[in-house]
Amino acid sequence: MNTAISFRCYAANDKDACLRLFDENCPAFFSPNERADYAQFLDAAPSGYEVCMLDGAVIGAYGLVGADQAWRHLNWILVSAKVQGLGIGSVFMDRTIRIGKAANIVGIKIAASHLSAPFFAKNGAVQLQMIENGWGIGMHRIDMELKL
Ligand SMILES: CC(C)(COP(=O)(O)OP(=O)(O)OC[C@H]1O[C@@H](n2cnc3c(N)ncnc32)[C@H](O)[C@@H]1OP(=O)(O)O)[C@@H](O)C(=O)NCCC(=O)NCCS
Repeated sequence: MNTAISFRCYAANDKDACLRLFDENCPAFFSPNERADYAQFLDAAPSGYEVCMLDGAVIGAYGLVGADQAWRHLNWILVSAKVQGLGIGSVFMDRTIRIGKAANIVGIKIAASHLSAPFFAKNGAVQLQMIENGWGIGMHRIDMELKL
C-alpha cells in the first residue's frame, strides 16, 4: 500500500476532496464547527500543505506550515477513513520529520485532539497542555511539540 502512494503540493482544485476527507472523519475525530476553519485554511493554500494520492484519488493531506526559523506547525493531517490503520499516517509523520530536519528547525508544534494525541505521542511528540472542549463540546485540544 505505502509504495503505491504519492505526494504533491495542495492545489485549489483539491479543496472538495480535502473537505470530503474531513467529512469522513467528522464527528468521530473532528467537531462539525471545525469544518469552516479547515475550509479557510485551504483557501489560504499555505505553502507546505500536501495531498497524498492513491490510484488517482486524494486519500490524505497534511502539511508542515510556517516560516519561523525555529518552529513550524503540523497542520490538518488527515487520512481517509477507508484507509486508516495501514501505515499512511506514519508515512506523513516520516515526511514531516524529514522536511523539518532539512529546514534545520528546532521542532514541530502540533495542535492535536485527545483522540489523535496518542498517535503523535507514538511519533515522539510530547504534551504541553490540554484545553478541555478546546475544539468543541467533547473534543479536547492537546497542544504538543516534537523536538527534532
Ligand atoms: C491520526 C491519523 C492521521 C493516523 O493515520 P493512520 O494512517 O491511521 O495511522 P497509521 O496506520 O500510520 O498508524 C501508526 C500507528 O499509530 C496508531 N494509531 C493511529 N491512530 C491512532 C490514534 N488515533 N490513537 C492511537 N494510536 C493510533 C496505529 O494503531 C499504529 O500503531 P502500531 O504502529 O502499533 O501498529 C488518522 O487516523 C486520521 O486521519 N485520523 C482522523 C483525523 C485526525 O484526527 N487527525 C489529527 C488532527 S490533529
